[in-house]
Amino acid sequence: MPYSGTRIVSFIVVGLFIVVSLFWSFSEESQAAVECPATKPHRPSTYHLHKATLSKILHSEEFRNASVMKLQAAIRTRTEVYDDDPLLVEDDFTYWSKFEKFEQLLKSTFPLFYSKTTLQKVNYHGLVYIWEGSNSSLKPLVLMAHQDTVPVSNLTLNQWEHDPFSGDYDGENVYGRGVADCKEQLIGLLEAAEELISSEFSPRRTIIYSFGFDEEVGGPRNKNAEWLERKYGKDSMYAVLDEGGVNLDIIQGVKMSVPGTAEKGYMDLKIILETPGGHSSIPPRHTSIGIMGEMIVELEKYEFPKYFTKNNPAFWEYVCVAEHSPEMASSVKKSILSAGHNQKANEIARNYIDVDLGKGFVVKSTRAIDIISGGVKANALPEYVELTMNVRIAMEETVATVVDRVIDIIKPVVDKYHLGLVSDLNGRQELKPSTPAGNCLLKVVQAFPPAPLTPTLGSHWDIFAGTIHHVYEDLVAPDSTGLIVAPGIGSGNTDTKYYWNLTNHIYRYKPGLLPGVYSKEHGINEFIPMDSHLHLIAFYYEYILSVDETDD
Ligand SMILES: *[C@@H]1O[C@H](CO)[C@@H](O)[C@H](O)[C@H]1NC(C)=O
Ligand SMILES: *[C@@H]1O[C@H](CO)[C@@H](O)[C@H](O)[C@H]1NC(C)=O
Ligand SMILES: *[C@@H]1O[C@H](CO)[C@@H](O)[C@H](O)[C@H]1NC(C)=O
Ligand SMILES: *[C@@H]1O[C@H](CO)[C@@H](O)[C@H](O)[C@H]1NC(C)=O
Ligand SMILES: [Zn+2]
Repeated sequence: MPYSGTRIVSFIVVGLFIVVSLFWSFSEESQAAVECPATKPHRPSTYHLHKATLSKILHSEEFRNASVMKLQAAIRTRTEVYDDDPLLVEDDFTYWSKFEKFEQLLKSTFPLFYSKTTLQKVNYHGLVYIWEGSNSSLKPLVLMAHQDTVPVSNLTLNQWEHDPFSGDYDGENVYGRGVADCKEQLIGLLEAAEELISSEFSPRRTIIYSFGFDEEVGGPRNKNAEWLERKYGKDSMYAVLDEGGVNLDIIQGVKMSVPGTAEKGYMDLKIILETPGGHSSIPPRHTSIGIMGEMIVELEKYEFPKYFTKNNPAFWEYVCVAEHSPEMASSVKKSILSAGHNQKANEIARNYIDVDLGKGFVVKSTRAIDIISGGVKANALPEYVELTMNVRIAMEETVATVVDRVIDIIKPVVDKYHLGLVSDLNGRQELKPSTPAGNCLLKVVQAFPPAPLTPTLGSHWDIFAGTIHHVYEDLVAPDSTGLIVAPGIGSGNTDTKYYWNLTNHIYRYKPGLLPGVYSKEHGINEFIPMDSHLHLIAFYYEYILSVDETDD
């Protein structure tokens, strides 16, 4: 008996299904799990000529004492900045003259450096030093730090064990405002330069030192990068190195250095409600403050989507942790290592980082509702309510996708109260006409997208990561191994956000024994171990030598 038509069809369907599922599972297996990009120690070919100086930097008591004094002088020369500082330097030269004093201190402390470099002051107090190389066809290396610090609140002064501006040194740590963020970096860069000059080094590749003076308030006065772009053009730099990252932190049992190779985006978004006023004795059921309250509930209920993709440097960070961790559960390891090609594994990895590790900011955009104001009088209905929300934008999103999400979240509340809706992203856009009930306005006050991804394949990265290995595995702790250098994501922003046009190779990394939070950056009793400071000098010293001998 011949097979009926339907039986043939069902055979074909079942057959196809088997073939497809076999192929599917085969292709999942065949796609090798991703691997932690391995890096190995790199040292300059002239290392033997510089070994004695490096040893002096790290181990000489005399050098250490002299270095402590330089750091102390920098802490004592106060450079706090405030959110309400005069926007233009021209508005108040006297106010900004503290940076004049700081520059004078640098000049008297680093005579060799001043003799080899030319200083360009940009917008009065931005410092750009150029140490001209002998070969102008090599792209310059840009080394950064900021001169300013956050203030110290008078209310917390009595909790400081050391006066925040004395620069106390107890034989182990140096204390003071800015010592960990980031006067040690600025001073360390110049100490390394002085040592290089004393060792008769003169660069083939131009080295540029670029120090802003308002990083802690977002850098609106920082024109250094603009000036460099005018002088040298786009994509004109070999690499940019600034503060940031994590060093020697133990993550799931793995000793790691995690330089930032991207930064999340940033947005300050205002939501404004304008409603008719009136007498409080005959109020509507909900005032604009109540309506705003409903919006806040919705905004905080909402969870931004999670991503764990190769666009996010933290993807590689966690791949490295998974590959090397003696502690992480093997099922989690397996998920992280297959997250690049397996949806289910990807979801497990995302949730693990968010929920188990409590590091959701690594895998998604975040929002914080930070300021609210509205209403003027107890017996008058509020006519104006304003909320400011700060958003840190994941690598996979843009300013526009985040604004769209916010619109989706608040739209039902806008509809419920028959309000109009206007967004000012890309010019004024009326999404719903204003009504007698009032209006809701979205205003992007300040925003920039996630930073472009720094490449972590190729010689730029190999030299950079290799120098970290060499300093920590061969110089600081001879013959130690097991340090993993992996790319990571900066959740905050540095002055590097102005430098994107100058190079793809931007590193946010500071050597030292303690990750920033342990050093109480911005906090009470800020300090650094003096050893960290010496590591930092040794790192810059070696990195400059290695970068100088490559032709890339
Ligand atoms: C370094 O400073 C310490 C403490 O002030 C002092 O005891 C020591 O003699 C100094 N060492 C050198 C080599 O100057
Ligand atoms: C903190 O105290 C100092 C010294 O008494 C004073 O000059 C300064 O204005 C105070 N700062 C604030 C913000 O109150
Ligand atoms: C980078 O270049 C673009 C295009 O020329 C320009 O619009 C932008 O302002 C530049 N970015 C910075 C931070 O200078
Ligand atoms: C300068 O660097 C370029 C690019 O690496 C190289 O081709 C050239 O030979 C160098 N010139 C001198 C004088 O060393
Ligand atoms: Zn800083």
